[in-house]
Amino acid sequence: MTQILRADKAGVTRAAALLRGGALVGFGTETVYGLGGDATNADAVAAIFHAKGRPRFNPLICHYPSAESAFRQVVADERARRVAAAFWPGPLTLVLPRQSDCPVALLTGAGLDTLAVRVPRHPVAMALLREARRPIAAPSANRSGQVSPTSAQHVMDGLNGRIDAVLDSGRCAVGVESTVLDLSGPVPVLLRPGGVIAEALEACLGPIRRGGPSAPDDEALRSPGMMLSHYAPDLPVRLDAAAVASDEALLAFGPKPAGGLCSFQLSLSGDTVEAAARLFEGLRWLDAEGRRRGARGIAVMRIPATGLGLAINDRLRRAAAPRDGGADA
Ligand code: TXA
Ligand code: MG
Repeated sequence: MTQILRADKAGVTRAAALLRGGALVGFGTETVYGLGGDATNADAVAAIFHAKGRPRFNPLICHYPSAESAFRQVVADERARRVAAAFWPGPLTLVLPRQSDCPVALLTGAGLDTLAVRVPRHPVAMALLREARRPIAAPSANRSGQVSPTSAQHVMDGLNGRIDAVLDSGRCAVGVESTVLDLSGPVPVLLRPGGVIAEALEACLGPIRRGGPSAPDDEALRSPGMMLSHYAPDLPVRLDAAAVASDEALLAFGPKPAGGLCSFQLSLSGDTVEAAARLFEGLRWLDAEGRRRGARGIAVMRIPATGLGLAINDRLRRAAAPRDGGADA
């Protein structure tokens, strides 16, 4: 059984003690819920892969309570310090070379000589990381191939009985995962669009190379999590829908066309920030409700590729991609 912990002082203390003891704890961040384990303990990290049913060792992000604590374990150059000062704590992950004495288990970074590090903005996550007193590896707290969780209940839906506890800190405000920026080479590379928009990074750093699903193969290899088929609901997903069939479920963005078996509104006013926060909840709800009503698929209205729309469209393309069975989210 998985214990649900209240996000009060006692709950945070208990969760931190569990993490220090090698247990797995789900916890909320401003982006999505993470499935946390002690990043310096390879057994705990292996247990994370196992609990998720991750088919292969896709590198995990290490979470820290502050930039100083992160930069003791990875090599931060001037660019890394500049973006950290601008966006941490917040939904940005930096890929940087490991320090030679970095205590993080190699399995955490899938054996790479770089490490993805992030300082989340959520107060409960920050309190937990301070009390854990060690980096916490945390992929999104969902079973492999499923949609990322934005509430403690979502975590329980996928992982009840497979992890020790969930620290319930309510809904995630951002709702899509962090932006992953690779600063390990001479040119900054956007490996995954996310909560910090690319335009904001460019304003801080100058031009960055946009990686992502359409990037050349070497980029896909550098961030194995960028494989196309990802975040998939059970029902097939159809993108850029202008109309909805009578046997489809609808993920709406702005005023919606008539018809469909059921619908979920991401943002009536067409606000991509609001839509991002509701995206995974909407996909989960439509998947369950649509299947209950016998829908043959989910139709998704067009979402502009500006601001957080870039990250939303990235996740939706993955949800709609042909299923290859070997993917992981
Ligand atoms: O918002 C988030 O980032 C959430 C919360 C819990 O912090 N975490 C999350 O983790 O989304 P995960 O494991 O689902 O995604 C990690 C991404 C993957 O695309 C992975 O390939 C990439 O980061 N990554 C991790 N370490 C890397 C490395 N050393 N080099 C390149 N990419 C890396
Ligand atoms: Mg994930």
